[in-house]
Amino acid sequence: MNNPSTKSARAPQGGAAQADITVVGGAGHVGIPLVLAFAEAGMTVNVNDLNETTLATLRSGKLPFIEYGAAPLLTKALADNRLVFSSSPGAISSKGPVVITIGTPVDEFLNPVPGPVQHCIDDLLPHLSDDQLLVLRSTVYPGTTDWLHDYLARLGRKNKIAFCPERVIQGYGIKELREMPQIISGTSPEAVAEAEDLFRRVVPEIVRVKPIEAEFAKLFNNAYRYIEFAATNQFYMIAKSAGADYQAILRAMKHNYPRASKFPGAGFSAGPCLLKDTMQLAAYARNQFGLGHAAMQVNEGLVLQLVDDLKRAYDISSMTIGLLGMAFKAEIDDTRASLSYKLKRTLQMSARNVLTTDPFVTTDPATLPLEQVIEQSDLLILCTPHSAYANADLKGKPVVDVWGFLKNANVVS
Ligand SMILES: NC(=O)c1ccc[n+]([C@@H]2O[C@H](COP(=O)([O-])OP(=O)(O)OC[C@H]3O[C@@H](n4cnc5c(N)ncnc54)[C@H](O)[C@@H]3O)[C@@H](O)[C@H]2O)c1
Repeated sequence: MNNPSTKSARAPQGGAAQADITVVGGAGHVGIPLVLAFAEAGMTVNVNDLNETTLATLRSGKLPFIEYGAAPLLTKALADNRLVFSSSPGAISSKGPVVITIGTPVDEFLNPVPGPVQHCIDDLLPHLSDDQLLVLRSTVYPGTTDWLHDYLARLGRKNKIAFCPERVIQGYGIKELREMPQIISGTSPEAVAEAEDLFRRVVPEIVRVKPIEAEFAKLFNNAYRYIEFAATNQFYMIAKSAGADYQAILRAMKHNYPRASKFPGAGFSAGPCLLKDTMQLAAYARNQFGLGHAAMQVNEGLVLQLVDDLKRAYDISSMTIGLLGMAFKAEIDDTRASLSYKLKRTLQMSARNVLTTDPFVTTDPATLPLEQVIEQSDLLILCTPHSAYANADLKGKPVVDVWGFLKNANVVS
């Protein structure tokens, strides 16, 4: 690793050095919509990412994953020479803001892992001039922005530091960036002003708070959503244990009753953000975030409960079970932290065979065509409510539908 305190004059050759802005992690799920939004706003963007495969995909004019509305913007940005691709930490632009959108995982004990952000910053520092704004956009552990300010100050660096969290829903970043307010925070008035100037180009509204408030706002947004899903999933399990129809209950709860109108239906609550961010908050709260932990138990426990219920109702050791949908949510191809895989692993311990299918997922060689899964399965489980399943002919096979999504199927629970 470079000595982070050294301000190097080594600048990348070619367009990367000249770009108006650098997005580090720019080929990721958060990075791509942001890159394309800045390019659409007329900026030249240095897409800096360690993953050379996804950079090559983008350079060839293709998207590495589903991002609705992104394809025409990518085509135009490439045609207008608005994108520059770089894969080493040194290859950032020597001017303009540097926005960081890398992953911020939790470890196997559900504690945040600070290493990736610090290593990323350390790698960038020798190539960053003191007048460049550094924007954290990844979801971070509370206190990270102020920590970064102090860390750089100790190294004698004077960069302006901002935290401007991404809050768009995965797959719909292009649309939501244009519609959602952007939370802006910074460790100095200059950092806030510069970050605001930057984001005003691509978002309709700015909300200004302190860094710690912005960090909490992002985590509270995600944890609240995770808890909402846990509430409905818990109610679903209670209703099911009483033999009651949860869809009928939901209809009764919501009909002309505005206070319940946004209450979500039951389903698999998963993906790379909600559980992770709830656990970042729990770690910050010294594991005293009881609601968060309870939500994790309910949402993760739903699939285990489902398997127990199946074992009580059927001799699954003699059955082939087909899972419909392996992405973590509808209409996207992302399998990260998908509960479909937890269900698959659990069922594989007791069912004769488990088959899987998904119309969007291209990265899992075990998936089979839908027709084959329907044909060969004794029982189906709807894991992801992709619209393709709404009217699919499931050949009268019994199907478990936690979501209450299927209308003309032989739903057994
Ligand atoms: N996916 C979402 O919908 C979403 C929404 C809001 C916030 N977030 C947050 O945004 C962050 C990124 O999430 P994501 O889903 O885009 O992750 P991702 O894995 O899709 O993208 C991260 C990208 O960063 C790259 N990368 C990692 N380390 C790097 C480094 N040192 N230098 C350059 N590139 C590097 C990776 O190659 C990858 O392409 C996380 O903190 C996440 O919690 C995600």
